[in-house]
Amino acid sequence: MLRTHTCGELRQNHEKEEVTLCGWVHRRRDHGGLIFVDLRDRYGFTQIVFDPKKKGVFTAAEKIRSEWVIRVTGGVRKRLEGAERKENPTGQIEVDVKTMEVLNEAKTPPFEIDQEKDVSEELRLEYRYLDLRRERMQKNIALRSKVLQIIRKYFVEQNCLEIDTPCLIKGTPEGAREYIVPSRIYPGTFFVLPQSPQQLKQLCMVGGLDRYFQIARCFRDEDLRGDRQPEFIQLDFEMSFCEQEDVLHIIQGSLEAILKECSAKPLRGGKVGRYTWQQVMDTYGSDKPDLRYDVPIVDISALSRGCGFKVFEDALKNGGIVRAIRIPGGAELSRSEIDHWTELAKEQKAKGLAYILFKEDGAQSPLLKFFADGYLEKLQKETGARAGDALFFGADRFSVVCASLSAIRKEAAQRFKLIDTSVHSLFWVTDFPLCEEAEDGSITFAHHPFTHPRLDEWEKRHTEPYAMHAICYDLILDGYELGSGSIRIHNRKLQQEVFDLLGIPPEDQQKRFGHLLNAFEYGAPPHGGFAYGIDRVVMLLAGEPNIREVIPFPKDQKAKDLMLGAPSAMPKSQLDELGVQVKEEPEE
Ligand code: AMO
Ligand code: AMP
Repeated sequence: MLRTHTCGELRQNHEKEEVTLCGWVHRRRDHGGLIFVDLRDRYGFTQIVFDPKKKGVFTAAEKIRSEWVIRVTGGVRKRLEGAERKENPTGQIEVDVKTMEVLNEAKTPPFEIDQEKDVSEELRLEYRYLDLRRERMQKNIALRSKVLQIIRKYFVEQNCLEIDTPCLIKGTPEGAREYIVPSRIYPGTFFVLPQSPQQLKQLCMVGGLDRYFQIARCFRDEDLRGDRQPEFIQLDFEMSFCEQEDVLHIIQGSLEAILKECSAKPLRGGKVGRYTWQQVMDTYGSDKPDLRYDVPIVDISALSRGCGFKVFEDALKNGGIVRAIRIPGGAELSRSEIDHWTELAKEQKAKGLAYILFKEDGAQSPLLKFFADGYLEKLQKETGARAGDALFFGADRFSVVCASLSAIRKEAAQRFKLIDTSVHSLFWVTDFPLCEEAEDGSITFAHHPFTHPRLDEWEKRHTEPYAMHAICYDLILDGYELGSGSIRIHNRKLQQEVFDLLGIPPEDQQKRFGHLLNAFEYGAPPHGGFAYGIDRVVMLLAGEPNIREVIPFPKDQKAKDLMLGAPSAMPKSQLDELGVQVKEEPEE
């Protein structure tokens, strides 16, 4: 090694030793004839001192600038009294430099490495290799590494084999658009990058491997948000001869191990919670509520019959529901804030957002004049609304009421700082519906089409498809969906019936999923599994607002790699070889 110690290593007991350090010039200060430099590497900072009495090295030190890479040799000595720095583990000592070698010079970086000033994300991503030098990123990347190590150790201890599956595959549906890769050898044909290793891990179970895990790279071409990237990593897990509880137990253990080692925050309520899908939807309007604050939704359908307000009565007549949410402190909301909240509800397809403000001198709302006698009092009793609170209402189909009041719940948590950030909220959601209605009115899967339906309800598929449940489960951390899993179908006939239900014609079933259907005919064991997003776990542990902050080389919000300049155009010769013709020339 070019060094004897790292920049985070030296302590008072190294006094009088001669050491050699390598690192980056973090900060340089000229003081009373001496030059002080904070030398930085991954492990920390060490103060090194250039003395004008050592003329040669001092003259050289006058030239060095921020981010130059240098190697210095000198003696460790105790700092002068009063110059110690408690906050820095090496703050008791300094190195009196005898010789210095410049290993590399550096241009002035496009942003300062040594300060947490606001830098545009665009610039940070373009120069990610410089951004990675900053303390925040160094911490996040180290945390990511630690989480990966804990996961590996844990799943190996659970007797899982770590099995890598290919990235050049045939599509496996997880609900997003796919990234495709043209084949040169078979022009006009394409590989698909996995949205997850779902079918491959199931085929591992058919292959008798019994317990599998993988830190798997997944690719999804979908609308990006703070918690989504075009490529991301999952802890992917599958086991044979199991029931739902076995999967929950193993997965929960891994999250508990991660939280124990990487977070000082306790779990809210002291344990991992458990709710059915119906419970969380009814109470919080979302299948991934943030339960670090309570603020429940209350059903007021029954007491709203004959309430006098046409919007509510019509919703009930049309088979809908009426629900309310009480926002503590909400009475102080301004007209324009309520307009904004109304827009949020409308984004979720609500037709409006009825409200009542409970001011000190009484209830205030444009609706009061419509209310039948006694309705306001009943509402107050049912919701517990008191002076200072606000009530917001949803009157519509179940899904619209849930989505709009959940949006209000989230907004209220931000506006009134209701989130208890000193705890984590981790819980399971079970008993999901098997199917959902897609935008176009067709039936689609709620999880993925390999999920086992509850057999006692399977008869309902012809009459009430949306009333059936799946044996699947989600894990929610601090309001984010960390992961999903299910018990899988392992029987060809049932799998075909599910494909039929989803409207996939038999020829397509064979074309797209023939490998799986065939495999199920050769003694496939009952099996189930789970996957959680590791980027999301690390983001939440690091307290970062989005997953880009914990991914070494992420894409930007428009799915571009600004550092590499990808995606990019390909030379025509290369496209010809692939049999690919570009219809639209990309913009420069
Ligand atoms: P699912 O599609 O729910 O399940 O994905 C599991 C978890 O992966 C993470 N995730 C993402 N993270 C970052 N960017 C994305 N674009 C992204 N998409 C998903 C989320 C999510 O909860 N094969 C099933 C699992 C199974 O059934 O075993 C699957 O992939 O944290
Ligand atoms: P309108 O009668 O349409 O003027 O609505 C009266 C009040 O009820 C307004 O505050 C609307 O925002 C609200 N509102 C209208 N439709 C709904 C609905 N489906 N759910 C909740 N509030 C609504």
